[in-house]
Amino acid sequence: MSKFKAFRVKQEDKQVKGRIEELQIDDLSQGDVVIKAEYSSVNYKDALAATGKGKIIRDFPCIAGIDVAGTVSASTDARYQIGDKVLVTGFELGTGHDGGYSEYVRVPADWVVPLPESFSTYEAMVLGTAGFTTALCIKRLEENGLTVNSGPFIVTGATGGVGSFAVNILAGLGYDVVAVSGKKESHDELKALGASRIIDRNEIKLDGPPLEKGEWGGAIDNVGGDLLAWLSRTMKPWASIASVGLAGGAHLNTTVMPFILRGVSLIGVSSSNCPTPWRKPIWDRLASDLMPKALNDIVSEVVGLEELPRVFDAMLAGKTKGRIVVDINK
Ligand SMILES: NC(=O)c1ccc[n+]([C@@H]2O[C@H](COP(=O)([O-])OP(=O)(O)OC[C@H]3O[C@@H](n4cnc5c(N)ncnc54)[C@H](OP(=O)(O)O)[C@@H]3O)[C@@H](O)[C@H]2O)c1
Repeated sequence: MSKFKAFRVKQEDKQVKGRIEELQIDDLSQGDVVIKAEYSSVNYKDALAATGKGKIIRDFPCIAGIDVAGTVSASTDARYQIGDKVLVTGFELGTGHDGGYSEYVRVPADWVVPLPESFSTYEAMVLGTAGFTTALCIKRLEENGLTVNSGPFIVTGATGGVGSFAVNILAGLGYDVVAVSGKKESHDELKALGASRIIDRNEIKLDGPPLEKGEWGGAIDNVGGDLLAWLSRTMKPWASIASVGLAGGAHLNTTVMPFILRGVSLIGVSSSNCPTPWRKPIWDRLASDLMPKALNDIVSEVVGLEELPRVFDAMLAGKTKGRIVVDINK
């Protein structure tokens, strides 16, 4: 096979930097299935990993990209044949194993999920880790008692990838969705996705007492830090928060009061570590009842590998919104 292009991240003089390189199959991490990649996507974790702003990649060099969808071009595993349409999200893809920003991707067969029949590889990557994580949150919250009758559902980091899907999917399921966002200019778009109300993140009083008025029947939190602490103080009795992200900080300074006096639950969500048996059922739900009605409206950009450094910087500065899809062959 001839050479192909990949966005590979290296550490040189203590600086982490990614660039496009020409590689051969033997340069890739080991695996049973080789995928001719068609699309990937940009997640916050990709931006942290590829710029070195987060210590996500530990062994350099590593091709970045935690998502990929494409067609099997070689397989030593009986479950996958040449020509099968497949996707991979999470595990160590793009963090400890060469990832999705590459024309060819080689992975262990256990990481591979058959593409749901109703999806194209492009649609699968519009969803990518962000859509998958949203669906995983909903599964975890439902298992802990969430229903449309639980009360208003609040989503933080609402204009981001996970946030946009959360607003749109939950509104589609009939929830009264309240969006928290730092972007004043995006209020109309959030309403179009299904939010009934928008709270300006910068107007929330973050230093309140251990318990405030219980307002929310459920929450997906992409921000962490003081905003997650505020959420914990303002949940209704027995309501649950899915803790997803750290866009606003990794610390959490709260008290036990919401947990021991209101029975509030803080549920962890780790999409990269999602157990294999949960994965296909979650993708099947994304292709059915959890399919975002505004899937294509949530795409803000389709970029090629060359454009990745610009997108990473914008994302880490909180200036991107929705989903950014990577067309590997652009
Ligand atoms: N646990 C998991 O399995 C998992 C999976 C996927 C993602 N994540 C994490 O979840 C978060 C969201 O991921 P994503 O891919 O949706 O990222 P994203 O598209 O960059 O969205 C993050 C959103 O958070 C808000 N935000 C950005 N900077 C902020 C700041 N300094 N303070 C407060 N809010 C800020 C912004 O929304 P507004 O401007 O609307 O407020 C932004 O759009 C990230 O932290 C990511 O690492 C975790």
